[in-house]
Amino acid sequence: MKGIILAGGAGSRLHPITLGISKQLVPVYDKPMIYYPLSVLMLAGIREILLISTPVDLPLFRRLLGDGSRLGISVSYAEQPRPEGLAQALTIGRDFIGDDPVALVLGDNIFYGQGFSAMLNKAADDARAGYATIFGYPVDDPSRYGVVEVDAEGTPLSIVEKPAVPASDLAVVGLYFYPAGAADVAAAVTPSARGELEITSVNETYLRRGQLRVQFFGRGFAWLDTGTIDSLMEASAFIEAIQKRQGLLVAALEEVAYRRGFISAEQLAALAGPMQSTHYGQYLKRLADGKIH
Ligand code: DAU
Repeated sequence: MKGIILAGGAGSRLHPITLGISKQLVPVYDKPMIYYPLSVLMLAGIREILLISTPVDLPLFRRLLGDGSRLGISVSYAEQPRPEGLAQALTIGRDFIGDDPVALVLGDNIFYGQGFSAMLNKAADDARAGYATIFGYPVDDPSRYGVVEVDAEGTPLSIVEKPAVPASDLAVVGLYFYPAGAADVAAAVTPSARGELEITSVNETYLRRGQLRVQFFGRGFAWLDTGTIDSLMEASAFIEAIQKRQGLLVAALEEVAYRRGFISAEQLAALAGPMQSTHYGQYLKRLADGKIH
């Protein structure tokens, strides 16, 4: 199973912050935004990851994450010259994907909640068995998103990008699992009315083929928006509150790597060492010392 993070775009709704830096490198409380979606792929057990961004921003991601080996994963990089649509991530990633199933996550999507790892594992298993998975999340403004309509059994009936009149309140989040062959499906997509190669069109193809499954995030699960300065600040406040209350970090990549068995306690301690001037580094040290469970 391969993983792709799409972290391009202009970030124009966060100007002037994003005039000088990629949106997905902006901090969400105590770590760069990209840590959150990357942690999702790692939680799904995915160790081969392709990060796609703009030609200008790619070197900064490379500086931050390198080849991934310190986290026991492999990170490679590819350019998306222009933001022509989310489906393009799959065609840009064609060679990287090869004959494998793939998970795609948007670099600005943040997820947090109990039971998430089990949902990810199920989606990965289903992708290996030939099924795509999307995730539905109830929102009060579904017209801003891809919207999925399901029957009483949770079987998808329709999926529409930013409908004026939504058929349900279930937004489709920026996390998708696909079986082998996803690049071919994406290559057949034509631009939408807004001129983009829509990931919703990819999902519609799997729906038509009877190969689309939906999982549902329940009450209490957080899918945080980072699209505007207010929602970005609210996301930071949420992460701060949950971390301080529980004494556990959200999306600390070194922790995820350690807990998933990608790195040893010794490697974790070595990563923590140079970061002892921060709460983040001290947390990793305590984890390596067996003081956090
Ligand atoms: O966040 C979930 C939503 O993401 C889904 O519900 C929608 O179905 C899906 O189309 C997408 O909608 P958005 O309108 O929010 O997508 P946006 O154009 O804002 O792009 C999402 C992120 O991906 C953003 O950080 C920019 C980046 N991006 C976008 C495009 C179109 C790229 O890196 N490359 C692109 O070509």
